[in-house]
Amino acid sequence: MSTLHVIDHPMIQHKLTIMRSKETGSKDFRQLLNEISLLMGYEITRDLPLRDVEIETPMGHMVAHKVAGRKLAIVPILRAGLGMVDGLLTLVPVAKVGHIGLYRNEETHKPVVYYCKLPLDIQERLVIITDPMLATGGSSCDAIQMLKERGCSNIRLMCLVSAPEGIAKVQKEHPDVDIYTAAVDEYLNEDAYIVPGLGDAGDRIFGTK
Ligand code: PRP
Ligand code: URA
Repeated sequence: MSTLHVIDHPMIQHKLTIMRSKETGSKDFRQLLNEISLLMGYEITRDLPLRDVEIETPMGHMVAHKVAGRKLAIVPILRAGLGMVDGLLTLVPVAKVGHIGLYRNEETHKPVVYYCKLPLDIQERLVIITDPMLATGGSSCDAIQMLKERGCSNIRLMCLVSAPEGIAKVQKEHPDVDIYTAAVDEYLNEDAYIVPGLGDAGDRIFGTK
């Protein structure tokens, strides 16, 4: 069974509360999502292995540590996952970025694929999928499956707000994929939106309806 990591740091909870408010506009919403993604990035990269390096400081010789060449790829699920990319890139500027385009059919709530462009060596990388909303879990499960079909075996899922239904689906279908989320909300409504949630993440990021 994969591990569910709920990142409930006070600063993340504070920023998420502002994002949830319907009074918060796109500019602030984007900015806060960016900040939270950077903060969550600390937790998602916490167990990256280090290697020893010998360096000279102005005061002398020392054996210090650097991340041990674990190559990272960030893969946002379009559109809303894009809002989490810059925060992670601030933390790991050398990460490569792939894109998976999925939208939910409004009636069936099932995801439809419309785009996929990934780094050539994606199977060698630790892949962080980003999507602020884990609702039914259909989009995340399909994105994980697409990555596995391309040889990826080291995948993490980074969300902002998750529903119990989506968490259960990912854990059942992909027990090897850890989920990182800032909140676990109550339930999905009849339109498969997360309640209380924050509404439509893509629309709030990009100012569409
Ligand atoms: C939203 C969200 C997730 C998906 C979650 O995307 O960003 O990708 O729904 O729902 P699920 O867990 O039930 O699959 P949407 O389809 O609205 O597309 P958008 O990001 O382009 O607005
Ligand atoms: N997609 C969103 O953007 N919000 C939800 O609550 C569910 C799916």
